[in-house]
Amino acid sequence: MVHSRGLCPGSDSCALYSGCLRAAVVFFFQVSMPKTESKSRNHMTDGLAVIHDLSLSIGTSLNLEKETASFLRGLADAFSCDRASFHLLKAGELSTEASYGLSQKEREQESRSLLLSPLLQEVLSKGEPVNLFDPALTKYKSQFVAPLRQRGTFLGALWLARIKPVPFSEQDVTIIQLLADRFSISMDRALLYQELENKNEHLQKLNAQLIKVKADWQGTFDSISDLICILDRDARITRVNRAFSARLKRPYDKLIGAACHEVIHGSDSPPLYCPFHRVMQAGKPVEQDMEVKMGDSLFAASFFPFFDSQGKLHGAVHVFRDITEQKSLKDKLFQSEKMAAIGKLAAEIAHEINNPLDYINNYLFLLSDSLPPDFDKHEYLKKMEAGIDNLAALTRDLLEFSRPQIDVFVPLDVHKVIDNSLEFAGKYIHDKRVEVTKNYGCQAGPVMGSERMLQQVLLNLTLNALDAMQANGRIMISTSCRPGRFVLEFGDTGAGIPGEHIQRIFDPFFTTKKTQEKRGTGLGLTICYNIVCQHGGDMRVSSRVGEGTTFTILLPLSGKATQADGGPAT
Ligand SMILES: Nc1ncnc2c1ncn2[C@@H]1O[C@H](COP(=O)(O)OP(=O)(O)OP(=O)(O)O)[C@@H](O)[C@H]1O
Ligand SMILES: [Mg+2]
Repeated sequence: MVHSRGLCPGSDSCALYSGCLRAAVVFFFQVSMPKTESKSRNHMTDGLAVIHDLSLSIGTSLNLEKETASFLRGLADAFSCDRASFHLLKAGELSTEASYGLSQKEREQESRSLLLSPLLQEVLSKGEPVNLFDPALTKYKSQFVAPLRQRGTFLGALWLARIKPVPFSEQDVTIIQLLADRFSISMDRALLYQELENKNEHLQKLNAQLIKVKADWQGTFDSISDLICILDRDARITRVNRAFSARLKRPYDKLIGAACHEVIHGSDSPPLYCPFHRVMQAGKPVEQDMEVKMGDSLFAASFFPFFDSQGKLHGAVHVFRDITEQKSLKDKLFQSEKMAAIGKLAAEIAHEINNPLDYINNYLFLLSDSLPPDFDKHEYLKKMEAGIDNLAALTRDLLEFSRPQIDVFVPLDVHKVIDNSLEFAGKYIHDKRVEVTKNYGCQAGPVMGSERMLQQVLLNLTLNALDAMQANGRIMISTSCRPGRFVLEFGDTGAGIPGEHIQRIFDPFFTTKKTQEKRGTGLGLTICYNIVCQHGGDMRVSSRVGEGTTFTILLPLSGKATQADGGPAT
């Protein structure tokens, strides 16, 4: 027989058991064998060497299946067994885990009968080895079943069988039980390792699921175009979505931990209307309760209470929806409905005034022609004529407002339209000693429009600016391009518009010019706004009392336009 040696990698427990085994072998060899039987002693030495190797090979692998198969093979070899099997106790029942000397088919049959055999049941109930020798038995004359125990627990059993009538000797039994105990330790270790492996695999799966869930959640959070931030109980930001940090132009890291009011309102304390504390007290959402301005945009802000997994109120989720476009459409709709109603009324009034005004004008002319030469109240006539002129201007504006004359739109160079309008208003500008500066930043890509109508807008803006300024003021006109838009800014250094008026300046008949010398109709800006809208554009205003006013007109560009790289164009 050829034996291999040195299979054990030399673990502590392996070395310990190897030592025990050697001691057992020596004892067995010295005490039980007569010194004269040297041939049989050599034979025994060989056998013991196999057992020694076998013992060393136990525990070299954490793979239970591999380890069991090689152990059974080794045992069967060393103890001249024809069959061997290994049975594990699982959930109170023995199952066959590995076998030697049995085909797959035999294994199934044998296992079934073996598992039911009184032999195995005896080992199972008593926990003691059973050595059976009966030459009268048909199949296996000699059988040995060793229990496998570890840490006081019965793990399973080892079955060895010989077909020939050669009984398992006492020494065989001692050594097999010793090996079985050694194998129990290794098996217990392998089972623990397997359990650990299973747990680890389960944990890894859970971890992968967790990573995916987190990525899904983050992806969803970041895909929302509304601005979202999560606040803790002190209204400090704990998390924001991508839209939030992009719109506020602040990196994520700089937002975390910052106070909400500082980030949103740029203030040291929250605004009085902030519903955060209301949400925290009631634990109920406050939806679209307030409008918040950030830069040029207007947002509807909502608060939702944020509960943790235990249902404890943890903070709040603050959501901002951009309603700039929606609001401007709403305003436009409201404005155009108002215009339509007022326009109808204005047309009727203009018509009613125009006819009698014509008679008055004609009869005044006739009357002034037929006056005696010594008539000395000519200033009365002059005042009457001025009144008639004012009324005529009013009816003209009313008609323009109610039934605007819409020209055919042609490609226009807006800079030329501005220059022409300024030339037209040149006398008034000069009389008031006002300086005009121009900065034409947008290459005059064509704007489709009516020169007459746009001139009317610029003239109205110029006259309003002049009315708002003392002598030596300044009018600043600049143009720039935004994608698809021609932007015209018309600023002055006048008195500015107070907050309570600014919402109303585009309303028909809103005027603050009610003095004896200057009576406004309040239709100038209404007409401007209508003209800009008819051009598909938009008109906005910003003003600071005591500093001045700027009107911004956005007109659609019909071709490519680029930002001029040069300096001011005057
Ligand atoms: N550049 C400006 N600076 C300060 N206030 C202005 C300016 N432009 C307009 N306003 C305010 O807006 C109001 C409405 O202007 P709008 O041009 O519609 O009418 P008006 O100038 O009063 O009358 P009209 O144009 O018929 O002479 C003005 O009365 C004025 O109070
Ligand atoms: Mg005006």
